[in-house]
Amino acid sequence: NHNKSLTIEGTSYKLDDQTNVSPSILSKLSRNLHLQPHHPLYILRTQIEQHFPHFSYFNTLNPIVTVQKNFDDLGFPKDHPGRSKTDSYYINEQIMLRTHTSAHQLEIFSKMNKKFLISGDVYRRDEIDSSHYPIFHQMEGAQIFNMQNIEQEISEDKKYLISLNSTISSQKTPLRDNNEVNDDTIISSNNPIQSCHPIEQVNYVIQHLKFSLNSLIKKLFINHDENLKIRWIDAYFPFTSPSWEMEIFFKGKWLEICGCGIVEQDVLNKAGQNDKIGWAFGLGLERIAMVLFDIPDIRLFWSHDERFLNQFTNFNDNKIIKFQPFSKFPPCIKDISFWLNDQDFHENNFCEIIRDIAEDLVEDVKLVSFS
Ligand code: PHE
Repeated sequence: NHNKSLTIEGTSYKLDDQTNVSPSILSKLSRNLHLQPHHPLYILRTQIEQHFPHFSYFNTLNPIVTVQKNFDDLGFPKDHPGRSKTDSYYINEQIMLRTHTSAHQLEIFSKMNKKFLISGDVYRRDEIDSSHYPIFHQMEGAQIFNMQNIEQEISEDKKYLISLNSTISSQKTPLRDNNEVNDDTIISSNNPIQSCHPIEQVNYVIQHLKFSLNSLIKKLFINHDENLKIRWIDAYFPFTSPSWEMEIFFKGKWLEICGCGIVEQDVLNKAGQNDKIGWAFGLGLERIAMVLFDIPDIRLFWSHDERFLNQFTNFNDNKIIKFQPFSKFPPCIKDISFWLNDQDFHENNFCEIIRDIAEDLVEDVKLVSFS
């Protein structure tokens, strides 16, 4: 790869030993499904934006970012598994396809932005099945408050949110103060608050985070499930502490839909926001859209088929759209066996070859045996 280069949308990038982007991935860089009117991901993005009307929105940030932004700025250790070539797409040693919208947190906080949403396509190498695709979409949200008068700032913000939602809540009360949510997960020794944060202040921020996300999810699902169950599980991210994953109970299973937490003070300090404290979350849009619209296969989002796209053109908030499947190709199973010389073989590498050759025709790849 030395001395070779690659031109993507007018910019030329040097290639090196780290390069592993594939033609099929690069060809999708310009699709921007979340910006395509009537697309289910567009519909979901705008619904989420409506829940945060006082935020700034960033929907067109470039998915090609430095490794610095995607990992280093956020405190990822040098040996974090997410950095490996089997998990992430690199253009070269320093430039990659973002693996999450958090890659832009520092940049947006640095613009003195106190509340914002970012949406965009993110890239992770993965296996092949109906719920995994190497590109998906995330929506990042963050809100920070002045450490000094946090109590007042938060209570004003909550009043504002409740007044905005009162028209809907008069029908089905999606936005209540969430005392009904089980809060005993809040603080534990393996999910600690940061030593620089006074407990009283952090608690305000945690309550505000839970309130903001619980009310969002209830609103999105208002026509779908009267008794929506939500739970918060302790989690770990290098750039938040404490951290959680939010799950919803759907069709008999807990489904992880969001990671979130209290922003690491280091990140805020680097952005020149030393006197602030706040939360951030990252939602996976495909997961939620598949549940909301009954979309059975993640590849459908990439379809050019009118039979898919036309089903979403008349969306309005009060009507539930349930996707009606249309016939695809008849299924056809292939058994493939092969010998390996290379001990470093990784299943993701095999799936990448399959995607490059068969594109989205392949529905599922299962490893049967390995010996
Ligand atoms: N970026 C994280 C992910 O992709 C999600 C996240 C965002 C977690 C913001 C905490 C805060 O898994």
